[in-house]
Amino acid sequence: MSDVCVITGGGSGMGLATAKYMPKEKIIVLSGRTESKLQKAIKELEELGYTAYAKACDTSDRESVRQLAAYAASLGEVKNVINSAGLSPNMADAEKLLRVNALGTVYINEEFSKVMKSGSVIVDVASNSAYVLPQFLISKKVYALADKDENLFLTKMLKKCKMAKEGYARNGMAYAFSKNFVVWYAKKCAFEYGPKGIRVCH
Ligand SMILES: NC(=O)c1ccc[n+]([C@@H]2O[C@H](COP(=O)([O-])OP(=O)(O)OC[C@H]3O[C@@H](n4cnc5c(N)ncnc54)[C@H](OP(=O)(O)O)[C@@H]3O)[C@@H](O)[C@H]2O)c1
Repeated sequence: MSDVCVITGGGSGMGLATAKYMPKEKIIVLSGRTESKLQKAIKELEELGYTAYAKACDTSDRESVRQLAAYAASLGEVKNVINSAGLSPNMADAEKLLRVNALGTVYINEEFSKVMKSGSVIVDVASNSAYVLPQFLISKKVYALADKDENLFLTKMLKKCKMAKEGYARNGMAYAFSKNFVVWYAKKCAFEYGPKGIRVCH
């Protein structure tokens, strides 16, 4: 059975660049929302000698993530997940940033950990922006809502973001919160999935 490496946000940027560092024996699954971008990236990988497949997925939609995990598991043993799907502050408003960068990470880790076995690894891509927030603004109690009551998590996070002026400043704050959350959540998952032999890094 072949090893499968899934890269979300794999149609461009760091996701696609990471694919090119993978061993060629692995089956690569590139994912993202834009099918045409994925097809172009797959062609690039195939020309380099990779076996690669495209599967469209919006990581802010749990059902879409579930389908991606099932598809990847049907190709072989899912050994690597690199969650590089993400939006920057100039690309979306605060809510969308939190839905994709923060809740998307929850869906990826939860759904993939169901199909992954011992000896596998999930990498959640964060950012230096995760470390720019003053500590007093960070509430782990609010972060802990993300996988229990996502609506309350979003409401509380958006209230914090409203401290910043509407527009780029608020989006930037949402981005920093979303990536600070990724760092916290990856550590939480490392602790929870460790006994199953699944490593989680950020
Ligand atoms: N570039 C930097 O300087 C930098 C620095 C620190 C951290 N990062 C982080 O690194 C990651 C990759 O960034 P990048 O610079 O490589 O940017 P990028 O080229 O824009 O790549 C991000 C990818 O994510 C996909 N994506 C966006 N929203 C998605 C969603 N809801 N579901 C699935 N895929 C989605 C995009 O494709 P579609 O639009 O087709 O879905 C795109 O291919 C991001 O998480 C970013 O925050 C980047």
